Amino acid sequence: MIAEPHGGKLILRKIPDSFKETFMEEAKSLPSITVDVDTILDMENIAKGVFSPLEGFMTKEELEEVAHKMMLPSGEVWTIPILLQLNERPSFPKGERIAIRDTNLKIIGVMDIEDVFKIDLERIAKAVWGTDSREHPGVSLFYSKGEWAIGGKIWLVEEADFPLRDWELEPSETRKIFSYRGWKKIVGFQTRNAPHRAHEYLQRLALEIGDGLFINPIIGRKKKDDFDSGLIIRAYELLIEKFFPKERVIMGGLATSMRYAGPREAVFHAIIRKNFGCTHFIVGRDHAGVGNFYDPFEAHRIFDKLPKDIGIEIIKVGNVFYCSICGGMASDKTCGHADKYRTYVSMTKVRKMLMEGTMPPLEMVRLEIAKLLVEYTHSKIKRMVE
Ligand code: ADX
Repeated sequence: MIAEPHGGKLILRKIPDSFKETFMEEAKSLPSITVDVDTILDMENIAKGVFSPLEGFMTKEELEEVAHKMMLPSGEVWTIPILLQLNERPSFPKGERIAIRDTNLKIIGVMDIEDVFKIDLERIAKAVWGTDSREHPGVSLFYSKGEWAIGGKIWLVEEADFPLRDWELEPSETRKIFSYRGWKKIVGFQTRNAPHRAHEYLQRLALEIGDGLFINPIIGRKKKDDFDSGLIIRAYELLIEKFFPKERVIMGGLATSMRYAGPREAVFHAIIRKNFGCTHFIVGRDHAGVGNFYDPFEAHRIFDKLPKDIGIEIIKVGNVFYCSICGGMASDKTCGHADKYRTYVSMTKVRKMLMEGTMPPLEMVRLEIAKLLVEYTHSKIKRMVE
């Protein structure tokens, strides 16, 4: 059975086409605010049910419970704040309906304001990210968005212009695709990277266990040195076309930003994939981690510390590497050979090699993918020099 949405029902807060014109007319007469693309994409995610059971941006009460108890006041597990942050104190009173515009000033939707509040940024950062350091890319982005917030339910009228829209899939779509294909066990795979051989090992494991694999790369904001989302999509298209049983794999982008919140983000990622209909979710080494901020396996352990079961099975995989004695990819659980025979794989390593003009070894990245990455890195370096 396809997984039930988190909270029991898929949230849909999109204005139906037949009402759009009238709704838009009303929205034009409302006071409005302009928000950045990350916030717009999350508003769309709320409206499309990606963040079910959320129906709007969080109020202070919701934020506090999520930060300190990993729960929503309604009783579902939730680990990451979903906020509409502002740099200045807003002048709107509670109870007012406002229009929300993207940076092109296009009206995207409306919000019924339930709460206007100040965020204790450092305290929340410590609870969610485990640090208040500005060196952490997720924390510094959170700080930059402002210490004021408005919370309340939203309605989406129009999607924003987003270049990767064609690659996005919504839960209502994936749920239809999974049931059409008759899949019952669906394994979700999160990524912010082009595929390396350790990723592929995890994906083959998923194909072994499940009826189908849903590869769901992040196509929202990432840190500057992460790969471009378009490149990631191209690399996966190539991998699926040439190396996977095509009829057993679906790929679609997830239009939200990376928070780099390690363990807490692993839970958030699992809940999102449950909303897409996945029954299983893979968590490997240092999931959604950055630098040395998290123990590489804390993202496994957090699932045992949640206040409630989240209703999606977590497939926890250890460190995956190439072993020259095994003659292939292996993990701590499948290989007992000494460290000197192992080539550890990580995109941080691969990116460093590419920037230094070195071709990553085939034990780390397939030749076809490596060629794409080299081409991309050349044009990136060229742009940096110009
Ligand atoms: S993440 O930020 O989305 O987690 P990435 O795209 O690199 O980064 O990882 C996708 C998934 O693969 C995550 O579950 C991560 O833990 C896992 N993973 C990446 N590299 C390895 C590896 N060498 N061994 C085990 N798991 C890995």
